[in-house]
Amino acid sequence: MAYTPGSEVRRDGIRLRPVGEPDLAMLRRFAVEPGLLGLDWHGFRDPVAAERRHAADGWLGEHDGRLVVEVEDEPAAAGFVSYRHGVYGGTAGYREIGIVLLPPWRGRGIGWRAQALLCDYLFLHTPVQRVQAGTHPENVAEQRALERAGFQREGVVRAAEFRGGRWCDALLYSRLRDDPSPWDRPAEREWPGPDAVHPAG
Ligand SMILES: CC(C)(COP(=O)(O)OP(=O)(O)OC[C@H]1O[C@@H](n2cnc3c(N)ncnc32)[C@H](O)[C@@H]1OP(=O)(O)O)[C@@H](O)C(=O)NCCC(=O)NCCS
Repeated sequence: MAYTPGSEVRRDGIRLRPVGEPDLAMLRRFAVEPGLLGLDWHGFRDPVAAERRHAADGWLGEHDGRLVVEVEDEPAAAGFVSYRHGVYGGTAGYREIGIVLLPPWRGRGIGWRAQALLCDYLFLHTPVQRVQAGTHPENVAEQRALERAGFQREGVVRAAEFRGGRWCDALLYSRLRDDPSPWDRPAEREWPGPDAVHPAG
């Protein structure tokens, strides 16, 4: 991938950027609004934690962090992506990524692009070989978005999380550094841009 300064986290009118002070209101909402996170809602969380973390390192930790998803020409954040360091087999570090978009931005082709951009970013700035992501068996939108972003489904992780009063399975996906880039795939159809509204579920 050719590196052009400033270009590595923007494509197709979407960019990833560090969290700024004005984004903290959005992050607070995810901590206290049931359902806004989708299936990842696990009850109320400390809404001021977002400010503390922002003051500590701007959400740009080496081992975990967040970047805001922004549709260019729009002043507001559409959501955020996250990354977290993990290790398999002693020294084999990987990153696990996550994403949440605010409801008005879902189903517009932003989610898969944001996750593909985050992979580009991680492969560019860390030597990591493997990026993984988990999702829920009922989250068809995220399964499709991960596949569009170049991830492959690895399997079912049984009883991976406790939500909604019971233990639930998760689906595990991964993308390796040398896997085909989703940007190289020929467009199935002309993308109308992030402002075109498609039905979201
Ligand atoms: C999951 C999420 C990130 C997906 O991003 P998105 O921008 O809505 O998805 P995209 O528009 O990029 O669509 C990607 C693919 O999913 C499909 N898709 C989108 N929404 C869908 C829906 N509700 N049901 C079924 N398929 C859907 C699209 O058609 C597209 O498939 P295609 O490549 O075959 O055309 C977003 O909907 C979201 O933030 N949801 C709430 C939080 C969440 O679930 N996060 C993930 C937790 S694991």
